[in-house]
Amino acid sequence: MFRDKHFTAIVLAAGKGSRMKSDIPKQYMLINDKEVIYYSLKAFQDSDVDDIILVTREEDIEYCRKDIVEKYHINKVKEIIAGGTERYWSVKNGLDAAVGTDYVLIHDGARPCLDNDMITRLMEDVLVSGACSLGVPAKDTIKVVDDEDYGIDTPDRQYLWQVQTPQAFIYEDLIHAYQEMEKENNINVTDDTMIIERYLGRKSKMVFGSYSNIKITTPEDIFIAKIFLDKT
Ligand code: CTP
Ligand code: MG
Repeated sequence: MFRDKHFTAIVLAAGKGSRMKSDIPKQYMLINDKEVIYYSLKAFQDSDVDDIILVTREEDIEYCRKDIVEKYHINKVKEIIAGGTERYWSVKNGLDAAVGTDYVLIHDGARPCLDNDMITRLMEDVLVSGACSLGVPAKDTIKVVDDEDYGIDTPDRQYLWQVQTPQAFIYEDLIHAYQEMEKENNINVTDDTMIIERYLGRKSKMVFGSYSNIKITTPEDIFIAKIFLDKT
């Protein structure tokens, strides 16, 4: 228990990894002989979160149980469940399995460079803000473009952050936001801060993560993540 509250981490690994173009899903690719998904599970295992729900594709549940969770003794994993067709349905399944917790941390299993300091910063913040996300101030100038890729706006960089995970919420709030979202026909969201903005009208606080907390998306990211993991 962290400050007398119960925290559950939901680790997402039910994606197809289509942009990676690899034979095996990116969350199971190896970096220094360990699966990508191992690293963030280990970070949560060594953190103050109370338990972990791992969300995978149905056909990978047994593999994850035997070859990752049991092999590396990640004993905070209380359930391994099947995800859905979109990231937000995978989160929803995780939330349903987390009934009774006070706070949830939603994390992309494709971000292996997470560490205990980042998790603690986020847990401290959610006790105050009720909704927060790791992220980093944008280093590049960001352009909004039209359908022909012509720049039509350049937002002031001072107000731009790149959003990372984990993202932390009061459990009941996020469940409520998902219930509202499920009433929609056209759902178009890429993370959970968008869901509470759109469906609860709530702000979320950006908490400094790390420039090394990258998401493995395309092939070169595996090499970059290895460099960061070798440093720690
Ligand atoms: N994810 C999930 N369920 C889905 C889609 C994504 O659990 N239906 C997870 C992924 O496994 C990943 C995280 O959400 O850990 C972030 O998604 P992303 O980087 O987009 O991964 P993929 O959807 O697998 O990759 P792509 O979009 O390239 O297909
Ligand atoms: Mg995706």
